[in-house]
Amino acid sequence: MFARRTQWNLATNRHAQAVERARLSGCPLLDLTAGNPTAVGLAYEDARILAALQHPQALTYEPAPLGLLPARQAVAAYYAGHGVTLPPEHIVLTVSTSEAYTYCFRLLCDPGDEVLVPSPSYPLFDFLADIQDVRLVPYELVYDHGWQIEFESLARAITPRSRAIMVVHPNNPTGHFTRPWELDRLNHLCREHELALVADEVFLDNPISAPAPFSFADNQGALTFTLSGLSKICALPQIKVAWLAASGPSELVAEAMAKLEVIADTYLSPNAPIQWAIPELLSTGPGIQRQLNQRVATNLATFDEALSTARLVTRLAFDAGWYAVLRTPAARSDEELAILLLEEDGVLVHPGHFFDFPAAGYLVLSLITPPEDFAEGIRRLLHRIESFV
Ligand SMILES: Cc1ncc(COP(=O)(O)O)c(C=O)c1O
Repeated sequence: MFARRTQWNLATNRHAQAVERARLSGCPLLDLTAGNPTAVGLAYEDARILAALQHPQALTYEPAPLGLLPARQAVAAYYAGHGVTLPPEHIVLTVSTSEAYTYCFRLLCDPGDEVLVPSPSYPLFDFLADIQDVRLVPYELVYDHGWQIEFESLARAITPRSRAIMVVHPNNPTGHFTRPWELDRLNHLCREHELALVADEVFLDNPISAPAPFSFADNQGALTFTLSGLSKICALPQIKVAWLAASGPSELVAEAMAKLEVIADTYLSPNAPIQWAIPELLSTGPGIQRQLNQRVATNLATFDEALSTARLVTRLAFDAGWYAVLRTPAARSDEELAILLLEEDGVLVHPGHFFDFPAAGYLVLSLITPPEDFAEGIRRLLHRIESFV
């Protein structure tokens, strides 16, 4: 009865089952995967956020396929803050970055066409591609004192069915962001093979160290779609506001925008009260980002201090984002290790295979975890792993 694209293996894996058991048992857990910013003790500007949702013009219906102009102007102002001049008519509002990906895939790909995705990376992409009948083809990020794109693997992955190269900038979970020399090579590949670039910038405002990452919204070297939204830049995932912004050669951008307008007009997805709230909500972003970046810095300092005496555990260098990648002995699978930490120590971590790390020996931790939980979780984690010798 159901489409082949929905034939997912929906059985929960061993780690997910262990998490369920641990939660049901009621034992307190130290959750070092905490990724929901609304549940980690940040001080939001509650009154401003709630007041923004009561805009009087929300009582009027005014269909606007790309999104209401004041909202798109506010998004353009966000990019102006990153030194990018972006005309509001090159912006399309969506309810989520996931929906923005969907629009890009619908615009660029016929069924069976391919999109090149970085590996390791964020796990949601597989489902997004399945639902759109797009085939994801991984290209490698390699680690050598820091992450970078492995361009030979990227070039090898390109076929006549390739339509776009995706970059997650900064990447989740590696924390790598694209350097100017990498952008030049990406543009070159895109022009040579008539590909578009799709850049996911949800963590753009979370650099760990200078220089901060540039925005792809300024890229003129190839047709580029830059995706972001309030879920990360204002730490408001429940508000459901995101966008895609087109840049690049003007004829291609004009054609893309005309087609995107039809796609967006078919759904008219973001609701009016939220769209009217966007200018005010976006203005709360810098305050919450200061807290997030402070939180990440605090946890990272705790982590590095604890690691300074560890013999078996190191962390990988990274540039930005909310996550840290841990290198652990590969004697047992990362799933087994994560289950051991959960069951013996009450510490919840992401096994690396969740993000498609190529081998055992990687764990991923959230640096936005409340600092007391983070410090105690790290203490227990290191105690457990260091006892392996
Ligand atoms: C790299 C990346 N892109 C997109 C998203 C999802 O964003 P949204 O909530 O706007 O769909 C996430 C969520 O964690 C993410 O890590």
